[in-house]
Order: sequence, then structure tokens, then C-alpha cells
Amino acid sequence: MIILLIWVAVLIAVVVLYLKQVYSTFSRHGIKHFKPVPILGNLGKVVFRKHHYARDFINLYNSFPEERFVGRFEFLTESVVIRDIELVKKITVKDFEHFLNHRTFGENTFFARTLFFLKGQEWKDMRSTLSPAFTSSKIRLMVPFMVEVGDQMILSLKKKIKDSEGGYVDIECKDLTTRYANDVIASCAFGLKVDSHTDEDNQFYAMGKTATTFNFRQMLMFFLLINAPQLVKFFKYDMISEPIKKFFRSLVRDTMKDRDLHNIIRPDMIHLLMEAKKGQLSHEDVKPNDEAAGFATVEESAVGQKDLNRVWKDDDLIAQAFLFFVAGFESISSTMTFLLYELAVNPEVQERLAKEVREYDNNNGGKFDFNSIQNMTYMDMVVSELLRRWPPAVVMDRMCNKDYNMGKPNEKAEKDFILRKGCGIQIPTFAFHHDPKFFPEPEKFDPERFSEENKHKINPLT
Ligand code: HEM
Repeated sequence: MIILLIWVAVLIAVVVLYLKQVYSTFSRHGIKHFKPVPILGNLGKVVFRKHHYARDFINLYNSFPEERFVGRFEFLTESVVIRDIELVKKITVKDFEHFLNHRTFGENTFFARTLFFLKGQEWKDMRSTLSPAFTSSKIRLMVPFMVEVGDQMILSLKKKIKDSEGGYVDIECKDLTTRYANDVIASCAFGLKVDSHTDEDNQFYAMGKTATTFNFRQMLMFFLLINAPQLVKFFKYDMISEPIKKFFRSLVRDTMKDRDLHNIIRPDMIHLLMEAKKGQLSHEDVKPNDEAAGFATVEESAVGQKDLNRVWKDDDLIAQAFLFFVAGFESISSTMTFLLYELAVNPEVQERLAKEVREYDNNNGGKFDFNSIQNMTYMDMVVSELLRRWPPAVVMDRMCNKDYNMGKPNEKAEKDFILRKGCGIQIPTFAFHHDPKFFPEPEKFDPERFSEENKHKINPLT
């Protein structure tokens, strides 16, 4: 019994010493941070749902106004949160070679093969492969699919209203926009026609919903992926369950096979992935500030324009299709939901936006295409302000892959801080967007910030 007690005491002492060592990283270098709680680090309030993740970052950001960067512990893992916007620019532009990769999220998992988590040269090559798929000329061809899905949503809403007793229906907006986003991605990314407003439990919607719901199993996996990736690798765990992977795999494979067999060409993501596989997805000569680029698309980056000979496996391309689903599903639906909310509480914005849409509708004879979107300047202002106030990606992250001198944490500090290889950084987008120094009265929804007269006042780094 005594021996057992001694062993327990030794074990506890080792754990305490280990935690002390881990959680003293920032104090040893004079970097400000909130006191961590053993095991949870600074994530306690998020894990127990007392704080939204975004609110957690705002708290940290606002609590240390003199600091250029501060520390944060996610469970046992430390990361440095950047407060100095000029340092963000250095990290993401001039010194980007030190920060090419996102933080590791398990190796050899389905997710790890997606563009978001690929590393180094493989990321550059995949980016180069996919980049032409996101230029304005390709998105232009997909707008009719989005319009078709929009029409089908309106039709279903009208029918529900007609069938109702009082001539109106109550709508859960997040459900409505999630179904719209689902159907757009099904059509644009997978070449599949579904109507989730009418056929509410269709398999594509059900699979997507399961894949993007953060339940207990996924929470546990998330913890292990961050803190014990080797364990995850050993047990071959994956965030995405086998039936879901199987569903998306066969969907993409069967669609590709069917198209090859019947020579079907539909200008969607599946087609672009098939072209990429054959090495036929060519890069475009889009000039900087090309008007055709519009606000909805980006220019191809230099990374994306490199010629490349890599041959991708089917599974690599399937993982990208799946990423389009995951990346688009929540971002589109939450953006649209917040838009509906802001339009409801700001009726003057709603009226002006509706007027602009109606005007273009009349001028275009009821036809809605990519040009219509580009001509709607007020729509651009409203969407920009929406993404300012409610950015779906509240924080961005990177992993340091070469030791990096971050400079001094504050003006009074004596020593520079060297960020070691393997340490993560976080860029608190949501906090920058709500800093009154950059956006006066940040809680006010004010599209005028992005008007022709005002937009030059916005710091482009924010
Ligand atoms: C309002 C809508 C959206 C927002 C705010 C948004 C935001 C972001 C952000 C912040 C990143 C991380 C960038 C980085 O760390 O370098 C990202 C990456 C990515 N997003 Fe989105 N996104 C949106 C919609 C979409 C949609 C609709 C798709 C595809 C159909 C998509 C596909 C991707 C991909 C593939 C990446 C990885 C890029 C790379 O690592 O090279 N996103 N997005």
C-alpha cells in the first residue's frame, strides 16, 4: 500500500512539474497572458460554453493594450496571439516563408490531405493546382447554378406561405441559409442537384450536417489532435467518420466516372478537379486590378501561378471537394444568417439594398448574372460591413516552421522574443474588426464605412 502511495505521489509530482514547465513558457519571456488552468489552459470558458471563442479573443486582445503580442494556452499547447497589425503584415507577407503552414491537425487523416492542412511544397503545389478554379471567369460560370438553387428556395417558401393558414410562416433563418448553402455546394462543387427545402432529409444534406456538427466525439478528437497527434496517428483516428468519407468518396468517384463515360461537361468544381487531375487546368493572365475580378473573387496568387508536374491521387482530389463543402457550408450560411439579422434590425439598409437589387433586376430584364453582382455597389458595401462585423473565421492561425524574431513584446521590454519552430501564432481577426482604433463605434452596423468617400480611411491591413 505504502509503495502504491509513493508511486501515486511521484506521479502527481511529475504531472505538476510538467504542467509548471509547460505553463511557464510565456512568463519566462515576459509575455503577458491570462493565468492558465491545468489541462484546459485558457480554454475553460470556451469548453464550458461560458464564452464564445470570438469573445474569448476580444477579452485577451483588450486586456493587454500595451502589448504587440500576448500568450494563450489551448489545453497544453501554447500559441502567440498577435496584436500589432504591422507584425501581422510582416508574418503574412514579407516573412511568410517562416509561416507557410497551418498548425498540425493530425497526419494521414482525410482532413490533413486538404489544401487547408497540406504543408510546405505540397500546399504550394495543391494551391497552384486549384487556384485557377477560383478566378472570376470560373465563378462566373457557376452563378447560374447559384441562381437556380435560389429560385428553388423561393419557390418552396412561396408554397409554404400559400399552404399556411394565416398567409405567413415562421422561419428559422439559420436552417434556411444552411439548406441554401448545402444545395449551392452540392451543385457547384459536386455536380449534384438537390432541393433541401422540399426534400428535407436528403442524403447529401444529412451527411453534410453530420460531418460539420461538432459533437462530443469530435470535441475529444480535436483535443487529441492538438495535444497528442502521435496518439491519433497510432490509433488511426480521424475527425471524419468512415461512413461519411465513404459517401463523399463514392459520390466524387462515381460522378467523375459518369462524366468521363458520357463526355459530360458541366462547368463546376468536379469538372475543374478532373481537369486538374489531367493537368489541363490552365492559369489565367489576370492583370492586377482587373475589373473582371470583382469583389467576389481573388487574383491568382504568385504561388498559384507556378507551373507544376505533380500527379494527384483520386483521394487527394476527393479531399479537396470535401474541403469545399466544409469551408463553404458554415461560412456561407452564417454570413447569410447575419445578413438577414442586420437587414431586419436596420430597415433603412434593407430598403436601400432592395431598391438597388430591384433597379438592376429591371435594367437586366429580370436576368441575374455575375455582372449584376459586380454592378451592385451598395451590395458590396453591405457585404463588406457584414464580414467586418461578423467575420465567419474569427481567428486565423499559422505554425512557425523556422525560428523567428518577433521583436520586443512591448516598448518597455528589454529583449526580443524568438518564436521557436513548432510554435503556433494566431491572428485575431474578430478583435481587429472590433477595435475602435480601426473601426469607430465597432458594434454599429454601418455600410457607409465602405462607401467610395470613406473606404480610404480603413487601414487595409485590418
Ligand atoms: C464568407 C465566406 C468565407 C470566408 C469569410 C472564408 C474565410 C477563409 C479564411 C479566413 C481562410 C484561411 C486563410 C488562411 O489562413 O490563409 C479560408 C481558407 C480557405 N477557404 Fe474560405 N471562406 C469563405 C468561403 C469559402 C468558400 C465558399 C469556399 C469554397 C467553396 C472556401 C474555401 C477555402 C479554402 C479551399 C481555403 C484554404 C486555402 C489555402 O489554405 O490555401 N471558402 N477561408
